[in-house]
Amino acid sequence: MSTYTEDKRKVTTLRLIEMKRRGEKIAMLTAYDYSMAKLIDEAGMDVILVGDSASNVMAGNVTTLPMTLDQMIYHGKSVMRAVKRALVVVDMPFGTYQGNSKEALFSAIRIMKETHADCIKLEGGAEVRESIERILTAGIPVMGHLGLTPQSINKFGSYTVRAREEAEAEKLIEDAKLLQEIGCFALVLEKIPAVLAAKVAGMLDIPVIGIGAGNGCDGQVLVMHDMLGINKGFSPRFLRRYADLGTIINDAVAKYVDDVKTGDFPNEKEQY
Ligand code: KIV
Repeated sequence: MSTYTEDKRKVTTLRLIEMKRRGEKIAMLTAYDYSMAKLIDEAGMDVILVGDSASNVMAGNVTTLPMTLDQMIYHGKSVMRAVKRALVVVDMPFGTYQGNSKEALFSAIRIMKETHADCIKLEGGAEVRESIERILTAGIPVMGHLGLTPQSINKFGSYTVRAREEAEAEKLIEDAKLLQEIGCFALVLEKIPAVLAAKVAGMLDIPVIGIGAGNGCDGQVLVMHDMLGINKGFSPRFLRRYADLGTIINDAVAKYVDDVKTGDFPNEKEQY
């Protein structure tokens, strides 16, 4: 249990903004299923992201693009059955909000109605302005996401650090200001230089949550499978591993296989 969890009140979008005002860092982590979401919530997480990274770590896809709205809703519902305290954000999957703002609103309404989540997240700046504005008219809080936006991986061509060049950094700053101005309650900045992320966090009143964006952000987010060592092959510089669950699970399962094969399991006490 985290030492920061004496406050059992439900985390809301408003409380995140208050946390930024008083300089309290925001902890955010992904979850996609009931059992892990329950453990993560009990451990004191502020924000749980039902990320479309489920495409990679749950479904084994190479990119996030194949994720469907029905699949995100399935994961969102599973997480929501477990969570009592954390704010739950559900990612809008690729193709459900970029086409037109009416479709974006329908997609966001489905997520909110069917999962009971607190808010949604979507990727992009000025290009998706209309979609964000329309979603906000329905009273659905929107978290933005700039920098490395994995749904645009085919445009970028690689997962390298974004906004190193001045033009891209300037566009990111403009987009960040725009997202705040039109009403996003928070913003994720992924894999950009720490100096740029700190500048954006300092400029905005809304919380800026970083992943691979340095310590100057108002909070941090990681993908649960990466930080727990379940996704063993993935080790970018920004990732800190808090456990080696991959090895623990491999060893436990190998021991179980041995015990079954040798007839050691079940023993007399483990039967009726
Ligand atoms: O889908 C996801 O897990 C995300 C995080 C990387 C921020 O969007």
